[in-house]
Amino acid sequence: MVEVIKTTGDMKARAALSRARGDTVGFVPTMGALHEGHLSLIRRARAENDVVIISIFVNPVQFDRNDDYRGYPRPLERDLAMAYEEGVDVAFVPDVEQVYPEGYSTFIEVRGSLTDVLCGASRPGHFRGVTTVVTKLFNIIRPDRAYFGQKDLQQAAIIKRLVRDLNMGVEVVTLPTVREADGLALSSRNRHLSGEQRRTAVSIHRALTRATELLISGEMDTAVIVCEVRGVLNEGGIARIDYVSVVDPETLEEVSEARPGAVVAVAAWVGDIRLIDNTALGVGPESQLFMHLNVETV
Ligand code: PAF
Repeated sequence: MVEVIKTTGDMKARAALSRARGDTVGFVPTMGALHEGHLSLIRRARAENDVVIISIFVNPVQFDRNDDYRGYPRPLERDLAMAYEEGVDVAFVPDVEQVYPEGYSTFIEVRGSLTDVLCGASRPGHFRGVTTVVTKLFNIIRPDRAYFGQKDLQQAAIIKRLVRDLNMGVEVVTLPTVREADGLALSSRNRHLSGEQRRTAVSIHRALTRATELLISGEMDTAVIVCEVRGVLNEGGIARIDYVSVVDPETLEEVSEARPGAVVAVAAWVGDIRLIDNTALGVGPESQLFMHLNVETV
């Protein structure tokens, strides 16, 4: 079985032991409910490091809605079995009091243009919660490398900035979004979708594919692309769109002219479930991992 550690003290000691032995440590932070997207991160961590540590912690301070926090899936036994299958050495599974003990009062915030836009605009406090917990986890584990999915494009950009700004000395590795065979990006929230909502949700991927097609056909004006993407979402039954934006993947600044590498990012509601996805324009379908492909050969 995977070694399960529940306290920050034990986790610090275990990670320090690995470092003292000269082992490199790869870290995959998660909120559990593991899916193929997490597993692709774990596999890469396994391939690149001597020791692989994951964390499973549903972080209360990054939720802007209490019902979302309470309803977040927590299939711990299943997660640990999956982690074991992938060769994870240690799972850090703290409870809330371990991470935020009585009197906890320190928060880490990346400020400005990276956090004000996209999900930052509609989920106040979310990224502050993410950067706070990631800083804590990095301080406890002090990994050599940490792994994040590109589906959470903004999160990845913010964490890279955090690590750079605070000289954390962690290599941040980002990996492509893993998708269902029909293109829906894997997300722990997908399990809340009803059958009909699941069919509706796939129009997010359809809309992003349309954006790529437009670029290939020579359309450079991002205003036109955004309008088309919105149209495909609406046709697919998605009326409540949080944002559709074409941005530079590192600065997250909106670009007015589409060029290869710019990212189209979408956040939209299917019923009461908020889904996000993005695609890099002109980079081609090979930049996305599909579940029916062998991840290692892509
Ligand atoms: O991406 C996630 O699952 C979370 O935001 C993270 C990075 C584990 C922090 O809680």
